[in-house]
Amino acid sequence: MDPYNNPDQQSDVTIQAMVTRLEERGRHPVFAGMIGAYVSQVPAEVPLRVLDLGCGTGVVARAFEARLHPGSALVGADVSQRLLEAAVALSPGSRIQWRKVDAEGLPFGDSEFDVLAMHTLLSHVVGPEALLREAHRVLKPGGALIVFDADHASTTYGLPEYARMRAVDQKLAEAIATHPDICRQLPRLLKKAGFQLDRHRSELFSECGRGDFWLSSVRGFARLIPALGILPEEEGRAWVEAMLASHEEGTFFAAGSYYTFFASKGPG
Ligand SMILES: C[S@@+](CC[C@H](N)C(=O)[O-])C[C@H]1O[C@@H](n2cnc3c(N)ncnc32)[C@H](O)[C@@H]1O
Repeated sequence: MDPYNNPDQQSDVTIQAMVTRLEERGRHPVFAGMIGAYVSQVPAEVPLRVLDLGCGTGVVARAFEARLHPGSALVGADVSQRLLEAAVALSPGSRIQWRKVDAEGLPFGDSEFDVLAMHTLLSHVVGPEALLREAHRVLKPGGALIVFDADHASTTYGLPEYARMRAVDQKLAEAIATHPDICRQLPRLLKKAGFQLDRHRSELFSECGRGDFWLSSVRGFARLIPALGILPEEEGRAWVEAMLASHEEGTFFAAGSYYTFFASKGPG
């Protein structure tokens, strides 16, 4: 059901909900801070070849462009023509090259990139192992891989009834991520693909009382739940109303964890 592994097959309502959510979360200071925390680790003194794989509307590619050496070659690549069109419209005058690709079989030569970032891509692809093998192939020896993803399986939206809360959390996570627990697999999958895991960061992002980042997620779900049939109509409407009411009343609770993995390809 994950709409993010085949965006171009989705309805206009779903695509528009995705564009809005990707851009809103990219602008949120906490989320932007998580992106900045790894973008700022990439050396800016020398020109680099950088690939933002699964770039969506281009949030991360634009962050790299703002920081990196002006001689750097930046490629934003995604399977979705419609999200790439949004990326082009959102970056007038940019020097980012936008490419339509399937990350599980990349149209790039061996050892083309110094840095490859994938920001909430891996949890959405059908074959994460094939994707990591491709990432290893297209990186130069000594190149850096940055994998950022949500631990969707830990995302929770507070409701008074525990059983209902857990059931809805699970349905939402499974509806919007093909692999809701991919972060828990990454140390093993990176090693299997030939990478060395150098370090990682983890962040718990919670909102209590009133929502902002997670409220935008609830508003996205208000459109996605009926469009994708995630919950029965009445149950979906009641969930959205309960979350919005808790925000108005100052009793909102939502939280989720994010991980950044810094890995490298050996010197060859
Ligand atoms: C959750 S979005 C993340 C977009 C962007 N990285 C961001 O964080 O704003 C996941 C992206 O992965 C892309 N995607 C999914 N499967 C893909 C594949 N096999 N190859 C390339 N891109 C893919 C989707 O089209 C979508 O743009």
